[in-house]
Amino acid sequence: MSWETIRSRLFRRKTHEEIQQDLEGRASHGLVRSLTLFDLTCFGIAAVIGAGIFSTIGSASFEGGPAISLLFVITAIACLFSALCYAEFASSVPVSGSAYTYAFVAFGELTAWMIGWNLLMEYAIGNSVLAFAWSGYFVNVLEGMQGWLGSIGLGFDIPEWLVQDYYSASRAPAEIAKLTAAGQEPSKELLNHVKAWESAPSWNGWRVILDLPALMINVFVTGLVIIGIQESKRVSNAMVVLKMAVIALVVLVGFFYIQPSNWHPFAPNGLEGVFKGIAAVFFAYIGFDAISTTAEECRDAQRDIPRATILTLILCTVIYIILAFTLTGMVSYKELNVSDPLAFVFGKVGVNSMVGIVSISAVIATTSVFLVFQLGQPRIFMSMARDGLLPKAFASIHPKYKTPAFSSIITAVMVALPTLFLNSQLVTDLASIGTLFAFMFVSAGVLVLEQQPLERSGFRVPKLPGEVILPVCFLCYCALLNRLPSSHHFWGDWFAQEGFHFDRIPYVIFLVVFAALSVASVRYRWSAIPVLGIVVNLYLIAGLGAANWIRFAAWCSLGLIVYGLYGYHNSVRRRVDAL
Ligand code: ALA
Repeated sequence: MSWETIRSRLFRRKTHEEIQQDLEGRASHGLVRSLTLFDLTCFGIAAVIGAGIFSTIGSASFEGGPAISLLFVITAIACLFSALCYAEFASSVPVSGSAYTYAFVAFGELTAWMIGWNLLMEYAIGNSVLAFAWSGYFVNVLEGMQGWLGSIGLGFDIPEWLVQDYYSASRAPAEIAKLTAAGQEPSKELLNHVKAWESAPSWNGWRVILDLPALMINVFVTGLVIIGIQESKRVSNAMVVLKMAVIALVVLVGFFYIQPSNWHPFAPNGLEGVFKGIAAVFFAYIGFDAISTTAEECRDAQRDIPRATILTLILCTVIYIILAFTLTGMVSYKELNVSDPLAFVFGKVGVNSMVGIVSISAVIATTSVFLVFQLGQPRIFMSMARDGLLPKAFASIHPKYKTPAFSSIITAVMVALPTLFLNSQLVTDLASIGTLFAFMFVSAGVLVLEQQPLERSGFRVPKLPGEVILPVCFLCYCALLNRLPSSHHFWGDWFAQEGFHFDRIPYVIFLVVFAALSVASVRYRWSAIPVLGIVVNLYLIAGLGAANWIRFAAWCSLGLIVYGLYGYHNSVRRRVDAL
């Protein structure tokens, strides 16, 4: 087979006629066009506000101090560029499948496969983050009920080895030894990890340590998703009202316990510390892209999806910034390295009633995001299986429950494996890098759409002159480079005392791509927003460090192998072309 044939197969795009056929095929399934702007915004907030703000913001604040609020602004801008691009796709290609389908239209099958493969990271690995966070707050609720349960004769001790993850527990003794040698105090989390390690029963020489609540929520929600829970807009809207009410309460009550001295120093670990929170902060924004998956069920998708996406982003950014200031104002950032920061700060200032309220709401809030993601992943599997890139079983519908039961079970396994073998930090990094990658390609896809001579109605990303904006941004970045953390520098000593500066490599790649895109923007007069979307997402990916790039590369390589072994040979488009 000639290279030309292989190339045309790998990069053959989905045409608008094929999209139209997909749409007509689905119309017969009777989706109801009922979602309004209000519903879509509630859906966005339901998918966005969860573990990020209730849990992972703790470690981000610990590293970055009060300045973490700045990172929320930077990340929101990055998300805004991607959000506009998602909105353009959602109104031009109003079918489900999200970034996977968009990549098929813009770049062809191979890229679409890789995006679908990486959406697994956003949805399935993202749900592992949520499972860990859910577990943290669930244990809080149980602990809060101990007194009452004891009084009715049902008291029990929660064994640490059943609520901690193996990865962190196995590393805890060495970490404690390191801290003790440095004369530093270990955190409460670390002490719990050590307790789990020391008290765990063993089986065939293996210590049994697992986060049982994290597995429980996975099994419970998967069960609901399979037996056909309709994520009705009323349930979703009710959860949003509850989340917002609790957040308002946290801010109102917390306001009285703020000590402005906690905001000094503002950036105790410099920009380097602030950037360590990138994965956690970005994770807090993931979910707004889920709005675009409802395109087939909106009353006016072309008008409402862009509005709802932008409204969600603005509301969440404002909420996050206020919460970041409240948290870091109530206690010193040094104490925030916990998995339940919003409840922790109230325990710390002695308002124990709020600990219970926040913990129960966090359990509900994370369940709602978990549910949205657990519904989303099987539907992406379905789109991929319909295109022949995955076995047909992934698109199969349960005869009784009328849900993609097989895909839902595979999703549950994909969520459970990381909760058994990794920890919250690792899965947050992986979920963030996978999502950023998808966002980058959606932005690039808009550039491709703009080159196609097609008549398109609906929302368009505002056209700003890339040939002016990109070079100016590039020059500003170069001018600032000296003031940015040393990981951004391509000059200086690459071999420091701690070893080779691997983390500089992603930033060097970023700089080269930024320069190339600036030149191309001048040459081809590209519109600025999609290019800025690529640049900012790549910048955030660079901030996730070399170790995550290697993990991500390994994941992508595995994806390519799976495609080579299965999708390439079974693609529906291939068979149609061969006729
Ligand atoms: N943004 C979602 C959360 O924070 C994924 O839970």
